[in-house]
Amino acid sequence: MLNNKSILITGGTGSLGKELTKTILENWPNVRRLVIYSRDEQKQFQMAQEFPEHKYPAIRYFIGDVRDLERLKRAFTDIDYVIHAAAMKHVHIAEYNPDECVKTNIGGAENVIKACLSSNVSRVVALSTDKACAPINLYGATKLTSDKLFIAANNIRGKQDIKFSVVRYGNVMGSNGSVIPFFMNKKSEGVLPITDPNMTRFNISLKGGVEMVLHALDEAWGGELYVPKIPSYKITDVAEAIGPNCKQEIVGIRPGEKIHEEMITASDSFTTYDLGKYYVILPQVTNWNLEDYVKEFKAEKVPVGFSYNSGENEEWETVQTLRSLIKEHLYPDFEA
Ligand SMILES: NC(=O)c1ccc[n+]([C@@H]2O[C@H](COP(=O)([O-])OP(=O)(O)OC[C@H]3O[C@@H](n4cnc5c(N)ncnc54)[C@H](OP(=O)(O)O)[C@@H]3O)[C@@H](O)[C@H]2O)c1
Repeated sequence: MLNNKSILITGGTGSLGKELTKTILENWPNVRRLVIYSRDEQKQFQMAQEFPEHKYPAIRYFIGDVRDLERLKRAFTDIDYVIHAAAMKHVHIAEYNPDECVKTNIGGAENVIKACLSSNVSRVVALSTDKACAPINLYGATKLTSDKLFIAANNIRGKQDIKFSVVRYGNVMGSNGSVIPFFMNKKSEGVLPITDPNMTRFNISLKGGVEMVLHALDEAWGGELYVPKIPSYKITDVAEAIGPNCKQEIVGIRPGEKIHEEMITASDSFTTYDLGKYYVILPQVTNWNLEDYVKEFKAEKVPVGFSYNSGENEEWETVQTLRSLIKEHLYPDFEA
């Protein structure tokens, strides 16, 4: 699928970007070019230790900001596929610096779309988050706006052969700034801070996130918002899995946080279909035929009123499964 293609990842030095890079280089040795686009030279320098240009001749490190349209246009020359992962993603930092978050997450999305439409890019997958579903914080609201921009970009593509789609998922286990590395660091202090004992979150591995991005690149007809079927965990079970002898201290919910996350609301149910491994929320305006789509993907309409919420999930991680996942995906030497 990716051999002889040129791919660019905005935010390529981030958690998702690095895992995607690894997967692409391992599975498509004849990828023509793989461009890592981000701002911080230090992160690029470190990533180049892991994926050096002399060992992987397809890889390029390109310093640039998604707020800079001209730089994006330059970077997108001769690129076939764009994965837009660059974002400000910390809820409380976005609450405190709202205009910065708007510039990166909304302005950046607009720029990526404009640069794609003025180049020969043919596939674009943008990363979303569960926090964009019925958002109550600025991060989520900016990502929802970004989702809408990417989905609507299919309507302004004219004759260009280009498809924009969106991938939405929940907390990525072990990603930068997430709860598992945070608890692993805190464990030695004997106390793990719990925001709210009822709190639940969706859980996906980085590999699962990468798989979805590749699925969207390969399968999207344009305008899809993909949602994976993934388990939830209770935050208290994560604490118990990591530090069974630690005291759990309730510190209170932080600004902009929800007790449970959502990925599909009852209002989305009117345009949501079950694809088996994923749900897909389809756009209301399409330039393809819905009946053809349903037939092609054996898509089943979900019942009206259906919603997908981490607190009401049917599938759950337990203390034991969490321990196995931590060992398998993040810390091979992990012992509770
Ligand atoms: N991690 C999760 O749990 C999670 C869950 C759901 C959805 N997502 C979404 O998935 C995507 C990837 O997340 P991640 O965990 O990989 O994030 P991450 O590890 O924080 O990486 C973010 C990347 O974006 C780059 N970046 C930030 N601002 C930029 C800008 N203005 N211009 C260019 N590059 C910029 C960063 O590099 P520089 O700072 O060097 O520019 C870094 O490469 C995001 O869109 C996020 O919203 C993440």
